[in-house]
Amino acid sequence: MTEPVVPFWIAGSPESSADLIEVRSPYDGRLVATTSQATPSQVDRAVQAAADVAAEAASLPASVRAAALDHISKRLAERGEEVARLISAENGKPIMWARAELGRAVSTFRWAAEEARRFSGDLQRLDTDPAAKGRLALVRRFPKGPVLGITPFNFPLNLVAHKVAPAIAVGAPIVIKPAPATPLSALLLGSLIAETELPVGMFSVVPVPNAVAPDLVADPRLPVVSFTGSGPVGAQIRAAVPHKHVTLELGGNAAAVICEDYADLDWAAARVALFSNYQAGQSCIAVQRVIVHSSKVDDFLDKLVNAVGGLVVGDPSADATQVGPLINEAAAERVESWVAEAVEAGAKVLVGGVRDGASYAPTVIVDAPADAKVCAEEVFGPVLVVQVVDSDEEAFAAVNRSAFGLQAGVFTTSIQTAFSAHATLQVGGVIIGDVPSFRADQMPYGGQKGSGTGREGVASAMQDYTDPRVLVLTNLAL
Ligand code: SIN
Repeated sequence: MTEPVVPFWIAGSPESSADLIEVRSPYDGRLVATTSQATPSQVDRAVQAAADVAAEAASLPASVRAAALDHISKRLAERGEEVARLISAENGKPIMWARAELGRAVSTFRWAAEEARRFSGDLQRLDTDPAAKGRLALVRRFPKGPVLGITPFNFPLNLVAHKVAPAIAVGAPIVIKPAPATPLSALLLGSLIAETELPVGMFSVVPVPNAVAPDLVADPRLPVVSFTGSGPVGAQIRAAVPHKHVTLELGGNAAAVICEDYADLDWAAARVALFSNYQAGQSCIAVQRVIVHSSKVDDFLDKLVNAVGGLVVGDPSADATQVGPLINEAAAERVESWVAEAVEAGAKVLVGGVRDGASYAPTVIVDAPADAKVCAEEVFGPVLVVQVVDSDEEAFAAVNRSAFGLQAGVFTTSIQTAFSAHATLQVGGVIIGDVPSFRADQMPYGGQKGSGTGREGVASAMQDYTDPRVLVLTNLAL
């Protein structure tokens, strides 16, 4: 029996088109499901519906917004294993990471429900000056308008959740353009949003080719653009719509620092090994660089190479698998060519360095020149470069010698070193005692330099999607 075509969502209703797309597993090429691409007129209806419903959405009671968010969170949890299997199948990420992503999406929506309930605004007294006697300001935030969310393949559910949940929380309609390689998790999420009492038009999920994105970005009916993806595309968006409110969550070449004082090298090596390879390195905060104090390097490297060599690689659907394929063979070929370029320039591969189709073996490299792509650019693959330094200050300077600045991990037990890292590192987040890959979904998350502008994390994105508006009251007994 032929499986039905998975519908997409136009203004809250399921639709499809004759333009079918097959979503295949990056691991073995099996057909996961067939969906279709939204036509230009379907996309136009989605955008017009978002514009038409904007005023109604903005005035929805908090109870309605929070109930919808709680419902989505609860339904994701109820269908947890099915959703995790879908994420794993379409993206190729091992089921253990897909389950983790599912759990995080449940939390993202739950947090958004809580934030929606307490999104009240601030009071500011104005009678600090005699001319403003009896005056008080109420500062409340109002949606800027409908949001365009463009999402990447590497977290096909939770990075969609990070755009949708805060939009619902503030009462902003949203049109999601999911990554062409992984639309299915976003479409499933659409079916859960459709179960809520939110007004039609408040959400649409439109699978379209990337070539259609510039028109959506330029559409004046979508005044907010929230993009997660590559640096070059982010730069194009910023240049195309300089007057729009644009949030860019771009890439990174995140570093972990092993400080002079840090004794638990077993823990540090195990964490760095795992999180340079989780999701085959396809996370903006996967560890790409490890910067090690010279007094620790011999011991650390032994443990690191052992830990990397011991990772379980293979079928993403198996419970024990830690490292699966990249999103496609072209991505693995690119990683292979970057490693070859580094080796040509004098680097040594301590472990890994082998490609098999879309899979690339977990790889550790030493002696790579600083301008090699594996050091200077975002690998987005299971490759870790090791750098040795003689002081923590030198390590922090090395972290900052990057075009990016998303998160950094600092292995230290010294509170002074932790504060110094926090003050010195040019990144959006510093994780003490662990890898840069840690993210809790309520945290502000975003970067400096080439890693983007603006912050996600539920409360931060709610600020981002709204403008403050001051209400000044006069003649008050204060
Ligand atoms: C990203 O790749 O930017 C997202 C990382 C995460 O949410 O853990």
